[in-house]
Amino acid sequence: MDLRLRWHVFRCRRQSDTRSRFLLELARAVARAPRAPDAAPMLEIGTRSGGSALLMLRVLRMVYRGLGPPPMVLTVDPYGARPYEGAPFVYDERHYRAMKRNLAGYANHVHYMMDSELFVRELEHLYLWGGGVKRPLDRFTLVYLDGSHDPDIVWFEIERLLPRVVPGGFLMVDDTDWFGGAVRRRLDGAAARMGVQVRHNGKQSIVAA
Ligand SMILES: C[S@@+](CC[C@H](N)C(=O)[O-])C[C@H]1O[C@@H](n2cnc3c(N)ncnc32)[C@H](O)[C@@H]1O
Repeated sequence: MDLRLRWHVFRCRRQSDTRSRFLLELARAVARAPRAPDAAPMLEIGTRSGGSALLMLRVLRMVYRGLGPPPMVLTVDPYGARPYEGAPFVYDERHYRAMKRNLAGYANHVHYMMDSELFVRELEHLYLWGGGVKRPLDRFTLVYLDGSHDPDIVWFEIERLLPRVVPGGFLMVDDTDWFGGAVRRRLDGAAARMGVQVRHNGKQSIVAA
């Protein structure tokens, strides 16, 4: 299995600005996330050119082969050259176009063109139709946070999204070493209260629900 995950990382690596070692950790979490015939969706905040989302979609396609349709992958990114806290990076229509091209072949992908603040606030009003059934977006098997790295924004995402991660699922946060490791320290301090286990893999923090 790990060899096949490495292959998928290799195929997606060029579309992402995240190093292979961290993409592999994401691929493993996708493969290990709870499965069920009606599996809850996966969510990525911060999509850029779609490299990490492509990896999630490829691994899900592999894991669900012969089991039925894979769960939905929702991505959230406003693009529009939104100022990026902590770095001068610009994410605009070039990245949006690349994302659409990279993910076009996946019917189980939905993109929300908005920032995480708006998405999280509207979440309780959103739902998806699938198999003739209306499903609220109240549970996720995996949440991957790689949007803004501003500690207050990331913490807002964590507080609102972690309670929606199903038991056995994961919440992964990229670049928790930014801003003096503020998010990492907060996660370590809150883990017991939140009833979760937190571990760090270099710049990534992984929360097991
Ligand atoms: C580091 S890139 C994501 C890389 C991507 N996950 C990958 O590995 O291929 C950060 C992305 O977050 C987006 N972003 C910035 N602020 C955001 C916010 N508040 N909500 C959602 N996305 C945001 C940017 O537009 C940018 O595309």
